Amino acid sequence: MSSNSTLREYPVWDRMVRWFHWINVLSVLALIAIGVAIMNSKALGVSTDGKILLKTWHVYVGYVFVINLAIRLFWTFIGNRFSRWSAILPLGRRFKAQKTAYVAGLKEGKPVGIAGHSPLARYMVTVLFLLLSTQAVTGLVLAGTDVYMPPFGDSFKAWIADSPESEALIKPYSKEGVNEASYQQMRDLRSPYKEVHEIVFWILVAAIILHLLGVIYSELRERNGLVSAMFTGKKVFKDKPVDWDDESR
Ligand code: HEM
Repeated sequence: MSSNSTLREYPVWDRMVRWFHWINVLSVLALIAIGVAIMNSKALGVSTDGKILLKTWHVYVGYVFVINLAIRLFWTFIGNRFSRWSAILPLGRRFKAQKTAYVAGLKEGKPVGIAGHSPLARYMVTVLFLLLSTQAVTGLVLAGTDVYMPPFGDSFKAWIADSPESEALIKPYSKEGVNEASYQQMRDLRSPYKEVHEIVFWILVAAIILHLLGVIYSELRERNGLVSAMFTGKKVFKDKPVDWDDESR
């Protein structure tokens, strides 16, 4: 119970969701920072070795990001009810009922209490998961093509090698042991992945800004402790949230 007797705390975000959220924030910020440096490496006068180092570190952080995201996606099947697909995807009877109540609350200026994601947040979180998953898949392919890192690096090396013996000679940014024709084919295959990785980066930056604005707006309007809930797991409400029932505990 909170010290204010009219307010009650509701445990919403389980430990797994909170850890995912903050590891995701830190890894995405680091990926954006290193990614922007890679994108502007020419203008920044970065040497070839520097570029390889930037890409290698981007991929190391990328592994943390991918593993964290994979665990969270698995958790959408086994976590508490607020962390599951049924509380994330903007679909289904319950979602429609919540949306109707939420929109009516907006119009009347009386916010409706929702313990899990609000209907608007469900659209946002679904889009964020899609964008993050796209970055994970395209990033893993790119990691294999340029710096020859796992999980696909060895397969790409085998593809572009002049002969099985020369495979071991292949290094980032070196043509030693490389068959030029196969290398060009590999670059052609890589090209759309790179384009998608870059476009989704820009969309993701816009989505992150929208997400932050949405959180600030909801917090100012509804005052349910949205931000602190990502640390403590608990939101506060005066009245029982519409999506709260005894099963939620
Ligand atoms: C939210 C996640 C991510 C963001 C925002 C992001 C952002 C970026 C950006 C901005 C670039 C520069 C693109 C360019 O030069 O045109 C880049 C390049 C790259 N990213 Fe990511 N990235 C993410 C995830 C990943 C992951 C998970 C991996 C792999 C594990 C990865 C691997 C790479 C590689 C290898 C490059 C270099 C591509 C090249 O050869 O030019 N990225 N990323």
